[in-house]
Amino acid sequence: MKEKLEQIRQTALERIAASDALEALNEIRVAYLGKKGELTSVLKGMRDVSAQDRPRVGQMVNDTRAVIEAKLEERKDRLAKRAREEQLKREVIDVTLPAKKNHVGHKHPNMIALEEVERIFVGMGYEVVEGPEVEYDYYNFEALNIPKGHPARDEQDTFYINDSILLRSQTSPVQVRTMENGKLPIRMIAPGRVFRSDEVDATHSPSFHQIEGLVIDKNITFADLKGTLEEFARELFGEDTRVKFRPHHFPFTEPSAEVDVSCFKCHGKGCRFCKGSGWIEILGCGMVHPNVLRMSGIDPEEYSGFAFGVGLERIALLKYEIDDMRLLYENDIRFLKQF
Ligand code: DAH
Repeated sequence: MKEKLEQIRQTALERIAASDALEALNEIRVAYLGKKGELTSVLKGMRDVSAQDRPRVGQMVNDTRAVIEAKLEERKDRLAKRAREEQLKREVIDVTLPAKKNHVGHKHPNMIALEEVERIFVGMGYEVVEGPEVEYDYYNFEALNIPKGHPARDEQDTFYINDSILLRSQTSPVQVRTMENGKLPIRMIAPGRVFRSDEVDATHSPSFHQIEGLVIDKNITFADLKGTLEEFARELFGEDTRVKFRPHHFPFTEPSAEVDVSCFKCHGKGCRFCKGSGWIEILGCGMVHPNVLRMSGIDPEEYSGFAFGVGLERIALLKYEIDDMRLLYENDIRFLKQF
């Protein structure tokens, strides 16, 4: 019996020492200590041992069991530790590698220019409003004193969706929508995207942006318009900027004007930037036509007002001395990064 136990112990320990995987250790545990294991079957043979030897043999079986169990545990720990070390070696992280750079986005020059324009007008008490890009013919033309067949319709090559719906060709329809709301007085600007069927070149695009302005109150005169736009031009282009109003025609204003500012590069002497004239055109404006007021339910005998329309891209190009509008749409990060 004793030899048998000794032999079991020996072979078990040898197998444990030679095992290389946790699964193998499990098999060994079952083979020796399991229900049908070798040690268990020795235990079953105890009934043939004399009563006198039984405690001693029992003690020997228990000792053998304890040794095997201890060695199994020890080996298991060793294997687990080795596996962990190998894993750590495999998953090594080089903390000295340079970090990935996150590029921070930039505001588009259009957006910087728009925020500047908004800042100026909000500072003068204007509200910023918006209108739809898909618009009714009525708001884009009809209510702005441009009836069907009016020659002014040909000046803006409009994208029509059907007879009565189009992509707005100007932000002026937002004037009409604001007046229709019925709340007076009005002091608002309306920035937004507009569309025209134009070929792309350095100064044209089928989709660009305008900022509309509208003021309606009692006793508003052309002097208010001049003062407002002079202040705007000085804030935008510098204190010493001079402003010139040239007579013009728009169907929705009477009288109408185009506004030039003195060239901020040469201060009016004439340079390449202002094409030698000393002046740069920046916007159209005028006193809101009585027909336009009336169509939106405002009594022109009681109220008057002025309106203006600025091209946003034009402002951005001038402010940053960019000479090709296409640069604003190509979204080349090397270009945009400069602002
Ligand atoms: N809507 C005009 C255009 O696109 C710009 C404009 C001119 C707007 C005069 C106005 C204005 O409100 O009074 O050419």
